[in-house]
Amino acid sequence: MEEIALHILDIIQNSIYAEGTFIELFIQEDPKHNLFSFYVQDNGRGMTKEFIQKVKNPFYTTRTTRKVGLGIPLLEATCRQCNGELKIQSQMGKGTIIQAIMEYDHIDRPPLGDMSSTIISVLLSLDHQRFRYKHQYQDQIFILDTKELKEDLGTLVLQQPDILRWIRQYVNDQLMKLTQ
Ligand SMILES: Nc1ncnc2c1ncn2[C@@H]1O[C@H](COP(=O)(O)OP(=O)(O)OP(=O)(O)O)[C@@H](O)[C@H]1O
Ligand SMILES: [Mg+2]
Repeated sequence: MEEIALHILDIIQNSIYAEGTFIELFIQEDPKHNLFSFYVQDNGRGMTKEFIQKVKNPFYTTRTTRKVGLGIPLLEATCRQCNGELKIQSQMGKGTIIQAIMEYDHIDRPPLGDMSSTIISVLLSLDHQRFRYKHQYQDQIFILDTKELKEDLGTLVLQQPDILRWIRQYVNDQLMKLTQ
């Protein structure tokens, strides 16, 4: 995939389908240690060990609309190309954590890409789940949490055009500050 943000969106969509109540994305950019990583954690239905092995094979899916599942195998391929790995830990009924690790300066590492669009897509796909986005660059961190956002903005629903526009701008500004 051309952007890591699209991989991230795919992995978060899996978490949304897993029907938990909480999803967290943590991106860690650590150029000094040549490390780029992110994880997506949810408290959804989880997977068994056997199921995880199957899922790493690109032709396994519980999707009913299409016969192949590609989100996880594609991300694993990108990680491996960048001298990294994809780690999946999951427990049935408890949840899942998927961690992607890559070399920061690897020539094949895609750029992170458009995170504000990914966040907006996630917010539009959520129904009741709480979503937290943490993004660390070196020793700086940015955190966005839908529960806190709702409290701060005094709204129960973030899926409104003016609010989403504000969030997009806010994420762009904060990420710009983070990496400058
Ligand atoms: N966080 C998760 N919790 C529970 N099950 C998961 C989770 N992530 C993935 N899965 C299971 O793994 C399968 C494969 O996921 P993958 O993203 O590779 O493909 P897909 O979601 O089926 O299709 P695609 O991502 O190509 O649209 C999913 O169909 C789902 O059953
Ligand atoms: Mg998927």
